[in-house]
Amino acid sequence: MNQTQMMASYKSTFETEPTHLFFAPGRINLIGEHTDYNGGHVFPAAITFGTYVLMRLRDDNLVRFYSANFSEAGIIERRLDDLAFRPEDDWTNYPKAMLHLLNERTDRIDRGLDVWFFGNIPNGAGLSSSASIELATAFGLNTIYGLDLNPLDLVKLGQRAENEYIGVNSGIMDQFAIGMGKHGHAMLLDCDTLDCEYAPVDLDRISIVIMNTNKRRELADSKYNERRSECETALSRLQTVLSIKSLGELTPETFEAAKSVIGDDILVKRARHAVYENARTLQALDALKENRLADFGQLMNASHVSLRDDYEVTGMELDTLVEAAWANGAIGARMTGAGFGGCAIALVRNADIESFEQTVSDRYKNEVGYAPTFYVASIGAGAHELELETKEEV
Ligand code: GLA
Repeated sequence: MNQTQMMASYKSTFETEPTHLFFAPGRINLIGEHTDYNGGHVFPAAITFGTYVLMRLRDDNLVRFYSANFSEAGIIERRLDDLAFRPEDDWTNYPKAMLHLLNERTDRIDRGLDVWFFGNIPNGAGLSSSASIELATAFGLNTIYGLDLNPLDLVKLGQRAENEYIGVNSGIMDQFAIGMGKHGHAMLLDCDTLDCEYAPVDLDRISIVIMNTNKRRELADSKYNERRSECETALSRLQTVLSIKSLGELTPETFEAAKSVIGDDILVKRARHAVYENARTLQALDALKENRLADFGQLMNASHVSLRDDYEVTGMELDTLVEAAWANGAIGARMTGAGFGGCAIALVRNADIESFEQTVSDRYKNEVGYAPTFYVASIGAGAHELELETKEEV
């Protein structure tokens, strides 16, 4: 959908013109999975797929939501004093959460708005479509109400929306990557301090291929929360012998020396993943900077194996897809995001992409029964306002 079509859809929906347009991307994570809420490092990048939001303030206290992705639902209308979470409110819970939290913070959301969404991130694919909606809304509200919050504030409020409003105990990675992303760069984020190092992703004749299992991330939220609490239990047992605040402070060596105190095989596996994945992520930054892509690929592969065997968040579809990628010339491949379905990524030589997609697709179809989808990733900018092309004429 181009901007002219978006404007036309807004106008026919709300019978008025929008005044502002915002965009927030989705994200991939190169490596560093399930490390963010363990105080470790992640290495994500914003992509050029994302969420577009058109807005205009109203003179009353109504908020009217519309999504071109769910046009059959029509306009969904709520009052500013009635923004509590409701399961049946579905996707509107994300913008409602941001309105609620931004007003709680500033007490300056005093009139309603007509807000229109369109997203081209595949839904439920683990590319953070929900965080993209949150940040597109947050950047928009910040500007349109003149709230003067900085991007990091909006990132943190996006995480609170997930944790406190939606009920998923996710870490900061998605919102940070989406709010702070930079064109052509991945970001090595220390999730304990929020120190971030931008690293150019300038791959010579190699692309990052996103491979969608097309399996929806069922039960993902409850399994996600379960993993998080398993890590917390492992941490509290380690804290009886070590003075640490998070698993992210441990090296593989200190972990191996202390792990027996955890006293439960499953919990040892969960913590081992968090510790070794963090070490791999730091190594991956160096490998990328030094252009050692074969090493980078090996680290990706080891990450997938650990997520499969120790963290147990992959599942048959992701494993089939990633194993097919390994067998067909990928320099490295791994699941990306929370897991339990969704997407994987692979580093593939440009000259091989077509045959790679064909053979991986054939094998996946054969074993899983339906086709995967492929997209070549472009690394884009973080959330921002876009100029309305017709603004002057309105
Ligand atoms: C989801 C969460 C993130 C992160 C990843 C796993 O995307 O939202 O905070 O924990 O899973 O790395």
